[in-house]
Amino acid sequence: MCGIVGYIGYEQAAPFLLKGLEKLEYRGYDSAGICLNDGQKLVVRKAKGKLQELKELTGYGKNVSGTVGIGHTRWATHGEPSDVNAHPHLSDSCRFAVVHNGIIENYLQLKEYLTSKGMVFRSKTDTEVIAQLIEYYYHGDLIDTVIKVLSKLEGSYALGVISQENPNEIIAVRKESPLIIGLGENENYIASDVPAILAKTRRIYRLENNEIAILRRDGVKIINTDRDEVHKQEEIINWDINAAEKGGYEHFMFKEIMEQPKAIRDTVTPRLKNGRVVLDEISLTPEQLRSFRKINILACGSAYHVGVVAKYVFEKLLRIPVEADLASEFRYRDPIVDEKTLTIVISQSGETADTKEALKEAKRRGSHVISIVNVVGSAIACESDDVIYTWAGPEIAVATTKAYSTQLAVVYLLAIHFAELLGTITEEDYQNYIGELEALPSKIEQILQNEKQVQFLASKLFHSKDVFFIGRNIDYALSLEGSLKLKEISYIHSEAYAAGELKHGTISLIEKGTLVIALATHEPLIAKTISNIQEVQTRGAYVLCLACEDHREVESVAQSTIFIPKACDMMLPSLAVVPLQLFAYYVASLKGCDIDKPRNLAKSVTVE
Ligand code: F6R
Repeated sequence: MCGIVGYIGYEQAAPFLLKGLEKLEYRGYDSAGICLNDGQKLVVRKAKGKLQELKELTGYGKNVSGTVGIGHTRWATHGEPSDVNAHPHLSDSCRFAVVHNGIIENYLQLKEYLTSKGMVFRSKTDTEVIAQLIEYYYHGDLIDTVIKVLSKLEGSYALGVISQENPNEIIAVRKESPLIIGLGENENYIASDVPAILAKTRRIYRLENNEIAILRRDGVKIINTDRDEVHKQEEIINWDINAAEKGGYEHFMFKEIMEQPKAIRDTVTPRLKNGRVVLDEISLTPEQLRSFRKINILACGSAYHVGVVAKYVFEKLLRIPVEADLASEFRYRDPIVDEKTLTIVISQSGETADTKEALKEAKRRGSHVISIVNVVGSAIACESDDVIYTWAGPEIAVATTKAYSTQLAVVYLLAIHFAELLGTITEEDYQNYIGELEALPSKIEQILQNEKQVQFLASKLFHSKDVFFIGRNIDYALSLEGSLKLKEISYIHSEAYAAGELKHGTISLIEKGTLVIALATHEPLIAKTISNIQEVQTRGAYVLCLACEDHREVESVAQSTIFIPKACDMMLPSLAVVPLQLFAYYVASLKGCDIDKPRNLAKSVTVE
């Protein structure tokens, strides 16, 4: 949510700022703006809507001059999307400009105080108080002033600050919201995420909480709030630049669906040595593991859906009760969690506000926290006792695909590993599961080769108004993800239902032509799911069924069928999710939707 970029160097800043913002579009936004110091004053240009508006307003950057500047894409929280609420925000006298990600929780008190001192506010945002506070406390030293202002702020922030008086400096700060510093030759950058600066440099610093970066053309200095210098390790980004680009595909989502075999291989292979799972990242001893009475999984959205699959997997292999909880619910319900509970937190971005706060709540109650995270160095990774990274690479499309798949792969690794430590698995089963895990990428490749069939089905069914996804056991967990994928990008109403639950109310919604997507991969319950298919069919539903290739009998009960290769029950969601992602993708494409950036959604949800 929201994106920050900044540039200081000898070239014109505006074209870089606009390009950088383009790379951050995936985070979700509804307005954008830039501010440059033109040598005499701060010049701000802002526009509601797509970045294209801002590009046209600034003549693609040519109409705004200056070699130092900051830019922002805003996802509205305080104040509606509008030109005036867009960032950067200027102080009263227009001497200071600020871009901000996060939320200032005490902004109303601060605004009241500053208004009583005669300062005039232009916008409805929380961010404007930061620019005004800088102006209010400024006595000639901007760094001291920013430190003073930080002591007044409650909440989360990543900030970029420039001033009219000093065209030779950008000040950047981070607390709870991500911010990186890019290091160039005679130029330096700030950004919310790596793709914004990758065309310029691969050398970065990741700011930690309460670190302040002072960027000049010839170097970057990092200090803490006592003004002591912090010596940080430079990080070299080794992604292929194509990883952050579309690489010939029409949409990031499609590219990321196609990247799943590689992403799973990259996540699993380094953790398998001589046929055994090796998770050096986990600090738990077998004794500690044996002391847990419960596993608690915390996440939001699709990551939560991974948690629901994990509940089936862990309970089957470890025989420990598992609760999968929505992070936003967990944090406010006085949960029963203590040192005898193992908490597993799942997050692609590692910045999701609800997940981060739920993690802190679990830790406060004494729980050991393992997180499964994609973004290295993100807040959730830093707060956890142990972190297992999913090596999915950058995920740009708002709707997750490859991150979901790699999170599942880590769940299987953890389950197999813990089962061995707890002695709840036979050597034969252990070996079988390792074989099944290693085989997943090539089976997904096989499914991807069949994408034309899914495209054809999408072309037949994309006019549907309501869709029900049904399944039993682990297929139910998968139906949650299939349904979310379809509705979030195609805007078709869809619901996920436990197949056995339909007749307790929902079946009254089935009428002639209602699309029901029946997931029937879970072998032990296939006969029951077939009965549920027949129940909806006799009431007029059109049934698209997804099953394993050795269950051809489903062809006689469903109007259309997609077959996937066989695998062990607990890993079938990794295969079955792929046609569901493709179906959502093609339906959204046929409906002309903005697939990579669905309306109202943001890639990393850094507000409650
Ligand atoms: C859906 C989707 C979201 C995220 C959720 C959590 O396609 O991507 O539901 O899964 O917002 O985000 P992370 O994993 O970054 O914590």
